[in-house]
Amino acid sequence: MVFDLKFSEEQERIRQLVRDFVEKEVAPGAAERDEGEDFAPTYELMKKMGKLGLMGLPYPQEYGGAGADQISYALAGFEINKVDASLGCAYSVHISLSGWPIFHYGTEEQRQKYSIPMFKGEKLGAFGLTEPNAGSDSGASECTAVLEGDYYILNGTKCFITNSGYADIYVVFAMTDKSKGIKGISTFIVEKDTPGFNFTKQERKMGIRSTVQRVIEMENVKVPKENLLGKEGEGFKIAMTTLDGGRIGIAAQGAGIAEGAYEYALGYAKERIQFGKPIAAQQVIAFKLADMHTKIEAAKLLTLSSAWKKDNHLPFSKDAAMAKLFATDTAMEVTTEAVQVLGGAGFLRDHPVERMMRDAKITQIYEGTNEIQKLVISGLILR
Ligand code: CAA
Repeated sequence: MVFDLKFSEEQERIRQLVRDFVEKEVAPGAAERDEGEDFAPTYELMKKMGKLGLMGLPYPQEYGGAGADQISYALAGFEINKVDASLGCAYSVHISLSGWPIFHYGTEEQRQKYSIPMFKGEKLGAFGLTEPNAGSDSGASECTAVLEGDYYILNGTKCFITNSGYADIYVVFAMTDKSKGIKGISTFIVEKDTPGFNFTKQERKMGIRSTVQRVIEMENVKVPKENLLGKEGEGFKIAMTTLDGGRIGIAAQGAGIAEGAYEYALGYAKERIQFGKPIAAQQVIAFKLADMHTKIEAAKLLTLSSAWKKDNHLPFSKDAAMAKLFATDTAMEVTTEAVQVLGGAGFLRDHPVERMMRDAKITQIYEGTNEIQKLVISGLILR
Protein backbone atom coordinates (compact mmCIF):
# COMPACT_ATOMS: atom_id res chain seq x y z
CA MET A 1 0.00 0.00 0.00
CA VAL A 2 1.54 3.30 -1.10
CA PHE A 3 0.87 6.39 0.93
CA ASP A 4 1.22 10.05 0.07
CA LEU A 5 4.42 11.52 1.46
CA LYS A 6 3.58 15.13 0.68
CA PHE A 7 2.14 16.84 3.73
CA SER A 8 -0.90 19.06 3.24
CA GLU A 9 -0.82 22.74 4.15
CA GLU A 10 -2.88 21.96 7.23
CA GLN A 11 -0.47 19.21 8.35
CA GLU A 12 2.47 21.58 7.85
CA ARG A 13 0.63 24.31 9.76
CA ILE A 14 0.07 22.00 12.73
CA ARG A 15 3.68 20.82 12.68
CA GLN A 16 4.88 24.43 12.73
CA LEU A 17 2.42 25.38 15.49
CA VAL A 18 3.68 22.54 17.68
CA ARG A 19 7.34 23.24 16.81
CA ASP A 20 6.94 26.92 17.80
CA PHE A 21 5.20 25.99 21.05
CA VAL A 22 7.84 23.39 21.90
CA GLU A 23 10.76 25.74 21.19
CA LYS A 24 9.26 28.59 23.19
CA GLU A 25 7.50 26.85 26.08
CA VAL A 26 8.73 23.27 26.42
CA ALA A 27 12.46 23.25 25.64
CA PRO A 28 13.61 25.85 28.20
CA GLY A 29 12.53 23.91 31.32
CA ALA A 30 12.75 20.29 30.15
CA ALA A 31 15.89 19.39 32.13
CA GLU A 32 14.66 21.21 35.23
CA ARG A 33 11.27 19.47 35.12
CA ASP A 34 13.04 16.10 34.83
CA GLU A 35 15.22 16.92 37.86
CA GLY A 36 12.14 18.04 39.79
CA GLU A 37 10.42 14.66 39.27
CA ASP A 38 7.09 16.43 39.51
CA PHE A 39 4.18 16.33 37.08
CA ALA A 40 2.77 19.74 38.08
CA PRO A 41 4.84 21.82 35.58
CA THR A 42 4.12 19.33 32.78
CA TYR A 43 0.43 19.62 33.59
CA GLU A 44 0.69 23.42 33.27
CA LEU A 45 2.15 22.94 29.77
CA MET A 46 -0.79 20.71 28.88
CA LYS A 47 -3.20 23.47 29.91
CA LYS A 48 -1.40 25.77 27.46
CA MET A 49 -1.65 23.06 24.80
CA GLY A 50 -5.39 23.01 25.44
CA LYS A 51 -5.59 26.71 24.56
CA LEU A 52 -3.81 25.96 21.25
CA GLY A 53 -6.34 23.24 20.42
CA LEU A 54 -3.80 20.44 20.80
CA MET A 55 -5.56 18.43 23.53
CA GLY A 56 -8.19 17.28 21.04
CA LEU A 57 -6.02 17.45 17.95
CA PRO A 58 -7.29 14.42 15.99
CA TYR A 59 -10.97 14.76 16.93
CA PRO A 60 -13.88 16.57 15.24
CA GLN A 61 -14.41 20.25 15.89
CA GLU A 62 -18.04 19.76 16.93
CA TYR A 63 -16.70 17.78 19.91
CA GLY A 64 -14.15 20.40 20.91
CA GLY A 65 -11.31 18.91 18.85
CA ALA A 66 -9.15 20.48 16.14
CA GLY A 67 -10.41 18.23 13.34
CA ALA A 68 -6.91 17.11 12.37
CA ASP A 69 -5.85 13.66 11.17
CA GLN A 70 -3.54 10.96 12.56
CA ILE A 71 -0.66 12.15 10.37
CA SER A 72 -0.86 15.54 12.09
CA TYR A 73 -1.00 13.79 15.46
CA ALA A 74 2.15 11.83 14.55
CA LEU A 75 3.89 15.04 13.42
CA ALA A 76 2.94 16.69 16.73
CA GLY A 77 4.32 13.61 18.52
CA PHE A 78 7.68 13.89 16.73
CA GLU A 79 8.01 17.56 17.68
CA ILE A 80 7.02 17.22 21.34
CA ASN A 81 9.12 14.12 22.00
CA LYS A 82 12.22 15.55 20.37
CA VAL A 83 12.39 17.82 23.38
CA ASP A 84 10.38 16.35 26.25
CA ALA A 85 9.26 12.71 26.34
CA SER A 86 7.49 13.23 29.67
CA LEU A 87 5.11 15.70 28.07
CA GLY A 88 4.86 13.34 25.10
CA CYS A 89 3.83 10.43 27.32
CA ALA A 90 1.17 12.36 29.25
CA TYR A 91 -0.19 13.78 25.98
CA SER A 92 -0.35 10.42 24.25
CA VAL A 93 -2.25 8.86 27.19
CA HIS A 94 -4.76 11.71 27.07
CA ILE A 95 -5.28 11.66 23.30
CA SER A 96 -4.98 7.98 22.43
CA LEU A 97 -5.69 5.91 25.52
CA SER A 98 -8.49 7.84 27.17
CA GLY A 99 -9.73 10.30 24.51
CA TRP A 100 -10.09 7.69 21.79
CA PRO A 101 -12.06 4.90 23.54
CA ILE A 102 -14.54 7.35 25.06
CA PHE A 103 -15.06 9.05 21.71
CA HIS A 104 -15.14 5.87 19.64
CA TYR A 105 -17.21 3.61 21.90
CA GLY A 106 -19.11 6.26 23.86
CA THR A 107 -22.79 7.11 23.61
CA GLU A 108 -23.73 10.63 22.53
CA GLU A 109 -24.31 11.51 26.22
CA GLN A 110 -20.85 10.22 27.16
CA ARG A 111 -19.26 12.19 24.32
CA GLN A 112 -21.05 15.36 25.39
CA LYS A 113 -20.16 14.89 29.04
CA TYR A 114 -16.57 13.63 28.73
CA SER A 115 -15.10 14.00 25.23
CA ILE A 116 -15.88 17.70 24.79
CA PRO A 117 -14.17 18.95 27.98
CA MET A 118 -11.26 16.57 27.35
CA PHE A 119 -10.73 17.76 23.78
CA LYS A 120 -11.07 21.41 24.80
CA GLY A 121 -8.26 20.79 27.29
CA GLU A 122 -10.46 21.48 30.32
CA LYS A 123 -10.17 17.91 31.61
CA LEU A 124 -7.33 15.43 31.53
CA GLY A 125 -7.70 11.71 30.79
CA ALA A 126 -6.06 8.50 32.04
CA PHE A 127 -6.23 4.78 31.22
CA GLY A 128 -6.47 2.04 33.82
CA LEU A 129 -5.72 -1.37 32.31
CA THR A 130 -2.56 -2.71 33.98
CA GLU A 131 -2.74 -4.55 37.31
CA PRO A 132 -0.10 -6.18 39.50
CA ASN A 133 -0.93 -9.61 37.99
CA ALA A 134 -2.12 -8.40 34.58
CA GLY A 135 0.75 -6.67 32.75
CA SER A 136 1.54 -8.15 29.33
CA ASP A 137 -1.30 -10.60 30.02
CA SER A 138 -3.89 -7.86 30.10
CA GLY A 139 -6.75 -10.37 29.96
CA ALA A 140 -5.82 -11.70 33.43
CA SER A 141 -7.62 -8.84 35.19
CA GLU A 142 -8.50 -9.43 38.85
CA CYS A 143 -10.45 -6.18 39.27
CA THR A 144 -14.17 -6.75 39.56
CA ALA A 145 -17.29 -4.78 38.71
CA VAL A 146 -20.65 -5.94 40.09
CA LEU A 147 -23.94 -4.37 39.05
CA GLU A 148 -26.02 -3.38 42.07
CA GLY A 149 -29.13 -1.39 41.17
CA ASP A 150 -28.08 1.68 39.18
CA TYR A 151 -24.36 1.34 39.95
CA TYR A 152 -21.44 -0.92 39.18
CA ILE A 153 -19.30 -1.51 42.27
CA LEU A 154 -15.60 -1.65 41.32
CA ASN A 155 -12.90 -3.27 43.44
CA GLY A 156 -9.23 -4.08 42.86
CA THR A 157 -5.84 -2.55 42.13
CA LYS A 158 -4.55 -0.75 39.03
CA CYS A 159 -0.88 0.12 38.68
CA PHE A 160 1.46 2.25 36.52
CA ILE A 161 -1.42 4.61 35.80
CA THR A 162 -0.07 7.64 33.94
CA ASN A 163 -1.62 11.06 34.74
CA SER A 164 -3.24 9.60 37.85
CA GLY A 165 -4.21 11.99 40.58
CA TYR A 166 -4.25 14.87 38.06
CA ALA A 167 -6.55 13.31 35.47
CA ASP A 168 -10.26 14.02 35.84
CA ILE A 169 -11.49 11.09 33.75
CA TYR A 170 -10.30 7.44 33.87
CA VAL A 171 -11.04 4.64 31.43
CA VAL A 172 -10.99 1.60 33.74
CA PHE A 173 -11.23 -2.11 32.91
CA ALA A 174 -12.71 -4.70 35.28
CA MET A 175 -14.30 -8.16 35.18
CA THR A 176 -18.09 -8.19 35.14
CA ASP A 177 -18.15 -11.97 34.61
CA LYS A 178 -15.02 -13.91 35.59
CA SER A 179 -16.40 -17.18 34.21
CA LYS A 180 -16.14 -15.77 30.67
CA GLY A 181 -12.41 -14.93 30.84
CA ILE A 182 -11.46 -12.06 28.53
CA LYS A 183 -15.05 -11.95 27.26
CA GLY A 184 -16.05 -11.02 30.81
CA ILE A 185 -14.05 -7.76 30.89
CA SER A 186 -15.96 -4.47 30.71
CA THR A 187 -14.91 -0.84 30.52
CA PHE A 188 -16.02 2.04 32.73
CA ILE A 189 -15.59 5.79 32.79
CA VAL A 190 -14.63 6.74 36.34
CA GLU A 191 -14.49 10.32 37.57
CA LYS A 192 -11.53 11.31 39.73
CA ASP A 193 -13.40 12.27 42.89
CA THR A 194 -15.51 9.12 43.12
CA PRO A 195 -15.30 7.85 46.74
CA GLY A 196 -13.11 4.73 47.10
CA PHE A 197 -11.03 5.61 44.00
CA ASN A 198 -7.81 6.00 45.96
CA PHE A 199 -4.48 7.16 44.53
CA THR A 200 -1.73 5.49 46.52
CA LYS A 201 1.93 4.80 45.78
CA GLN A 202 3.62 7.30 43.43
CA GLU A 203 6.33 5.57 41.41
CA ARG A 204 9.98 6.74 41.29
CA LYS A 205 11.44 6.10 37.86
CA MET A 206 14.52 5.87 35.66
CA GLY A 207 13.06 8.16 33.00
CA ILE A 208 10.02 10.24 31.98
CA ARG A 209 10.45 11.67 35.46
CA SER A 210 8.17 14.67 34.94
CA THR A 211 5.17 12.42 34.35
CA VAL A 212 3.23 10.82 37.17
CA GLN A 213 2.34 7.13 37.59
CA ARG A 214 0.46 5.89 40.61
CA VAL A 215 -1.18 2.79 41.98
CA ILE A 216 -4.95 3.12 42.23
CA GLU A 217 -6.73 1.09 44.90
CA MET A 218 -10.44 0.76 44.16
CA GLU A 219 -12.56 0.08 47.22
CA ASN A 220 -16.28 -0.24 46.49
CA VAL A 221 -16.15 2.51 43.87
CA LYS A 222 -19.76 3.29 42.83
CA VAL A 223 -19.84 3.98 39.11
CA PRO A 224 -23.23 4.95 37.61
CA LYS A 225 -24.34 2.26 35.16
CA GLU A 226 -24.58 4.87 32.39
CA ASN A 227 -20.75 5.09 32.65
CA LEU A 228 -20.33 1.61 31.20
CA LEU A 229 -18.35 2.20 27.98
CA GLY A 230 -19.52 0.00 25.13
CA LYS A 231 -21.30 -3.19 26.13
CA GLU A 232 -20.65 -5.54 29.02
CA GLY A 233 -17.95 -8.02 27.95
CA GLU A 234 -16.52 -5.73 25.25
CA GLY A 235 -13.67 -4.52 27.45
CA PHE A 236 -10.86 -6.62 25.99
CA LYS A 237 -11.73 -5.55 22.45
CA ILE A 238 -11.89 -1.91 23.62
CA ALA A 239 -8.47 -2.27 25.26
CA MET A 240 -6.86 -3.91 22.22
CA THR A 241 -8.25 -1.46 19.66
CA THR A 242 -7.31 1.46 21.92
CA LEU A 243 -3.74 0.15 22.20
CA ASP A 244 -3.54 -0.27 18.40
CA GLY A 245 -3.98 3.49 18.05
CA GLY A 246 -1.89 4.25 21.13
CA ARG A 247 1.05 2.46 19.55
CA ILE A 248 1.13 5.03 16.74
CA GLY A 249 1.59 7.67 19.45
CA ILE A 250 4.41 5.69 21.10
CA ALA A 251 6.06 5.10 17.72
CA ALA A 252 6.01 8.87 17.18
CA GLN A 253 7.49 9.21 20.65
CA GLY A 254 10.33 6.81 19.86
CA ALA A 255 11.15 8.53 16.57
CA GLY A 256 10.94 11.94 18.24
CA ILE A 257 13.24 11.05 21.15
CA ALA A 258 15.73 9.54 18.68
CA GLU A 259 15.65 12.62 16.47
CA GLY A 260 16.19 14.96 19.43
CA ALA A 261 19.26 12.98 20.54
CA TYR A 262 20.61 12.67 16.98
CA GLU A 263 20.33 16.41 16.28
CA TYR A 264 22.11 17.22 19.53
CA ALA A 265 24.90 14.70 18.81
CA LEU A 266 25.24 15.98 15.23
CA GLY A 267 25.68 19.57 16.43
CA TYR A 268 28.19 18.48 19.06
CA ALA A 269 30.18 16.35 16.60
CA LYS A 270 30.57 19.31 14.23
CA GLU A 271 31.91 21.53 17.04
CA ARG A 272 34.05 19.18 19.11
CA ILE A 273 37.68 19.21 17.97
CA GLN A 274 39.92 16.22 18.65
CA PHE A 275 43.07 15.22 16.76
CA GLY A 276 42.95 18.63 15.06
CA LYS A 277 39.52 18.35 13.42
CA PRO A 278 35.83 18.09 14.33
CA ILE A 279 35.00 14.56 15.49
CA ALA A 280 32.28 14.48 12.78
CA ALA A 281 35.14 14.37 10.27
CA GLN A 282 36.31 11.06 11.78
CA GLN A 283 34.68 8.28 9.82
CA VAL A 284 33.91 6.30 12.96
CA ILE A 285 31.65 9.15 14.15
CA ALA A 286 30.31 10.04 10.67
CA PHE A 287 29.17 6.42 10.18
CA LYS A 288 27.44 6.43 13.57
CA LEU A 289 25.56 9.58 12.50
CA ALA A 290 24.64 7.98 9.16
CA ASP A 291 23.21 4.91 10.93
CA MET A 292 21.30 7.05 13.40
CA HIS A 293 19.80 9.22 10.65
CA THR A 294 18.80 6.23 8.51
CA LYS A 295 17.03 4.46 11.37
CA ILE A 296 15.19 7.63 12.39
CA GLU A 297 13.92 8.18 8.83
CA ALA A 298 12.74 4.56 8.68
CA ALA A 299 11.04 4.88 12.07
CA LYS A 300 9.23 8.02 10.95
CA LEU A 301 8.08 6.38 7.73
CA LEU A 302 6.66 3.37 9.59
CA THR A 303 4.91 5.71 12.02
CA LEU A 304 3.45 7.86 9.26
CA SER A 305 2.33 4.89 7.17
CA SER A 306 0.44 3.40 10.14
CA ALA A 307 -1.13 6.81 10.83
CA TRP A 308 -2.07 7.09 7.16
CA LYS A 309 -3.73 3.66 7.25
CA LYS A 310 -5.72 4.66 10.33
CA ASP A 311 -6.77 7.89 8.60
CA ASN A 312 -7.88 5.87 5.58
CA HIS A 313 -9.83 3.31 7.66
CA LEU A 314 -7.53 0.45 6.61
CA PRO A 315 -6.42 -2.32 9.01
CA PHE A 316 -3.39 -0.97 10.86
CA SER A 317 -2.81 -3.20 13.94
CA LYS A 318 0.28 -4.85 12.41
CA ASP A 319 1.62 -1.53 11.09
CA ALA A 320 1.21 0.19 14.46
CA ALA A 321 2.96 -2.72 16.23
CA MET A 322 5.82 -2.67 13.69
CA ALA A 323 6.16 1.10 13.99
CA LYS A 324 6.14 0.93 17.80
CA LEU A 325 8.69 -1.91 17.82
CA PHE A 326 11.08 -0.34 15.34
CA ALA A 327 10.79 3.28 16.45
CA THR A 328 11.28 2.53 20.14
CA ASP A 329 14.22 0.16 19.53
CA THR A 330 15.60 3.00 17.39
CA ALA A 331 15.09 5.43 20.27
CA MET A 332 17.13 3.21 22.59
CA GLU A 333 19.90 2.63 20.04
CA VAL A 334 20.16 6.21 18.86
CA THR A 335 20.12 7.78 22.31
CA THR A 336 22.80 5.32 23.48
CA GLU A 337 24.92 6.21 20.44
CA ALA A 338 24.30 9.92 21.01
CA VAL A 339 25.73 9.59 24.52
CA GLN A 340 28.69 7.74 22.98
CA VAL A 341 29.29 10.50 20.42
CA LEU A 342 29.49 13.03 23.26
CA GLY A 343 31.86 10.75 25.19
CA GLY A 344 32.32 11.70 28.84
CA ALA A 345 30.25 14.83 28.28
CA GLY A 346 27.31 12.67 27.22
CA PHE A 347 27.29 11.01 30.63
CA LEU A 348 26.82 14.36 32.37
CA ARG A 349 23.48 15.90 33.13
CA ASP A 350 24.75 19.09 31.46
CA HIS A 351 23.62 17.68 28.11
CA PRO A 352 20.12 16.39 27.29
CA VAL A 353 21.22 13.11 25.73
CA GLU A 354 21.53 11.31 29.09
CA ARG A 355 17.91 12.25 29.89
CA MET A 356 16.84 11.14 26.42
CA MET A 357 18.60 7.79 26.88
CA ARG A 358 16.79 7.25 30.21
CA ASP A 359 13.49 8.31 28.66
CA ALA A 360 13.92 6.01 25.66
CA LYS A 361 13.95 2.86 27.80
CA ILE A 362 10.30 3.01 28.81
CA THR A 363 9.15 3.26 25.19
CA GLN A 364 10.35 -0.33 24.64
CA ILE A 365 8.21 -1.39 27.60
CA TYR A 366 4.91 0.47 27.81
CA GLU A 367 1.82 0.16 25.61
CA GLY A 368 2.91 -3.43 25.10
CA THR A 369 6.53 -4.50 25.50
CA ASN A 370 8.43 -4.94 22.26
CA GLU A 371 8.23 -8.69 22.82
CA ILE A 372 4.42 -8.32 22.82
CA GLN A 373 4.66 -6.31 19.56
CA LYS A 374 6.46 -9.31 18.01
CA LEU A 375 3.63 -11.54 19.26
CA VAL A 376 1.09 -9.23 17.59
CA ILE A 377 3.06 -8.95 14.33
CA SER A 378 3.81 -12.67 14.05
CA GLY A 379 0.20 -13.52 14.95
CA LEU A 380 -1.05 -11.33 12.10
CA ILE A 381 1.43 -12.54 9.47
CA LEU A 382 0.96 -16.21 10.35
CA ARG A 383 -2.82 -16.39 10.68
N1 CAA B 1 -8.27 -5.60 17.80
C1 CAA B 1 -9.43 -6.26 17.95
N2 CAA B 1 -9.51 -7.45 18.57
C2 CAA B 1 -8.37 -7.99 19.03
C3 CAA B 1 -7.12 -7.36 18.90
C4 CAA B 1 -7.10 -6.10 18.26
N3 CAA B 1 -5.97 -5.44 18.08
N4 CAA B 1 -6.19 -8.14 19.47
C5 CAA B 1 -6.79 -9.22 19.93
N5 CAA B 1 -8.13 -9.13 19.67
C6 CAA B 1 -9.14 -10.14 19.95
C7 CAA B 1 -8.82 -11.44 19.21
O1 CAA B 1 -9.35 -11.42 17.89
C8 CAA B 1 -9.49 -12.47 20.06
O2 CAA B 1 -10.88 -12.47 19.79
P1 CAA B 1 -11.71 -13.86 19.61
O3 CAA B 1 -11.51 -14.61 20.92
O4 CAA B 1 -13.11 -13.42 19.39
O5 CAA B 1 -11.07 -14.57 18.46
C9 CAA B 1 -9.31 -11.91 21.47
O6 CAA B 1 -9.11 -10.50 21.34
C10 CAA B 1 -8.14 -12.53 22.20
O7 CAA B 1 -6.97 -12.34 21.42
P2 CAA B 1 -5.60 -13.06 21.79
O8 CAA B 1 -5.86 -14.53 21.90
O9 CAA B 1 -4.56 -12.59 20.84
O10 CAA B 1 -5.34 -12.47 23.27
P3 CAA B 1 -4.22 -12.76 24.31
O11 CAA B 1 -4.84 -12.94 25.65
O12 CAA B 1 -3.30 -13.82 23.80
O13 CAA B 1 -3.43 -11.33 24.42
C11 CAA B 1 -1.98 -9.58 23.74
C12 CAA B 1 -3.08 -10.58 23.36
C13 CAA B 1 -1.55 -8.99 22.42
C14 CAA B 1 -0.80 -10.23 24.42
C15 CAA B 1 -2.58 -8.49 24.67
O14 CAA B 1 -2.88 -8.99 25.95
C16 CAA B 1 -1.70 -7.27 24.79
O15 CAA B 1 -1.72 -6.41 23.92
N6 CAA B 1 -0.92 -7.17 25.89
C17 CAA B 1 -0.12 -5.99 26.17
C18 CAA B 1 -0.86 -5.06 27.08
C19 CAA B 1 -0.45 -3.65 26.93
O16 CAA B 1 -0.14 -3.18 25.83
N7 CAA B 1 -0.48 -2.94 28.03
C20 CAA B 1 -0.15 -1.55 28.00
C21 CAA B 1 -0.76 -0.85 29.16
S1 CAA B 1 -1.15 0.83 28.86
C22 CAA B 1 0.27 1.73 29.02
O17 CAA B 1 1.36 1.24 28.98
C23 CAA B 1 0.03 3.19 29.10
C24 CAA B 1 1.08 4.09 29.54
O18 CAA B 1 1.38 4.30 30.70
C25 CAA B 1 1.77 4.91 28.52
